[in-house]
Amino acid sequence: MQLLDEAGQSHLADAGVESVLLRIAKRDQIADGIYVFELVSGTVEPLPGFTPGSHIRVHTPNGVLRKYSLCNAPEDADRYVITVKRDEHGRGGSMSLVDDTAVGQILQAQAPDNAFALVDDPGRLIFIAGGIGITPILSMIRSLGADPVVPWALYYLTHGEASTAYRALLSTPRYQPHVTFHHSDSGRGRFDLWPVLEKPNQGHVYCCGPRSLMTDVRDMSGHWSNSRIHFESFIEGGEKKPDDKPFTVTLARSGRTFEIPAGQSILAVLRTAGVAIPYSCESGTCGTCRTRLSQGVADHRDMVLMPEEKGDQIMVCVSRAKSDGLVLDL
Ligand code: FES
Repeated sequence: MQLLDEAGQSHLADAGVESVLLRIAKRDQIADGIYVFELVSGTVEPLPGFTPGSHIRVHTPNGVLRKYSLCNAPEDADRYVITVKRDEHGRGGSMSLVDDTAVGQILQAQAPDNAFALVDDPGRLIFIAGGIGITPILSMIRSLGADPVVPWALYYLTHGEASTAYRALLSTPRYQPHVTFHHSDSGRGRFDLWPVLEKPNQGHVYCCGPRSLMTDVRDMSGHWSNSRIHFESFIEGGEKKPDDKPFTVTLARSGRTFEIPAGQSILAVLRTAGVAIPYSCESGTCGTCRTRLSQGVADHRDMVLMPEEKGDQIMVCVSRAKSDGLVLDL
């Protein structure tokens, strides 16, 4: 079956991905344009478990496959909680989920996957969330417990109080000592992350939010070990740009050539053609789809590759071409 993801890419229903039926048990608006959905099993089967930072992909009523982080703690074995920002400028997946669903309705989804896992390293945890990017981080900080043994801090950057999901929860005594809120409408300008990142390798950084925020964090953390900086993005297939053009991709080992149209990723086209490529996040943050680039100039759009790797490697889930064609070592 072929579906569209939120970026409008064709998306194969993967044979190896477990499907689940979910029933909407509860839904509430919790901030301006932001809604929380509590989803329980839609069958007699228990829900598959998950780990902090996991996401599910939900088939929205208008036929879009949309990725949502799970916000609750993994101990909540009987439910998945997702938080949806109703995006009037997207391709309609979030609007459909908010506008076209009701309590009791059954939704088809894919079982949880995790491309943003907490690493097993007892160091300090620094969370940086921009807007709705709080969602995977909420599950992470919930999992740390009421009396955490690991020091952690959350920098939560939003437009204003009214659009800040979970502000009341994060202001309770359990969380408040760890949390710094910053609202861009407060007249205080952009939040300066440099003091947070100035000393390298002080634990692990987990960042989720708009591309501009992740780029800032990437740029400011170049002196950190790459393995200590973790990103999560909801834009599968990468951000579309108005001047995106088609290009060709040739597989060096088989000689097969494919046309990559604007609006579709290399990964989506190759998977549709049956070319097996490992992948996970589909948003240029996890590193799973790293592929050797034999010829051509890539337009890198990932958050993974270091400058010295960009000449001969490419993340095929998001990156495109500056040259007319690319040759991949596949
Ligand atoms: S699948 Fe995660 S970086 Fe491409």
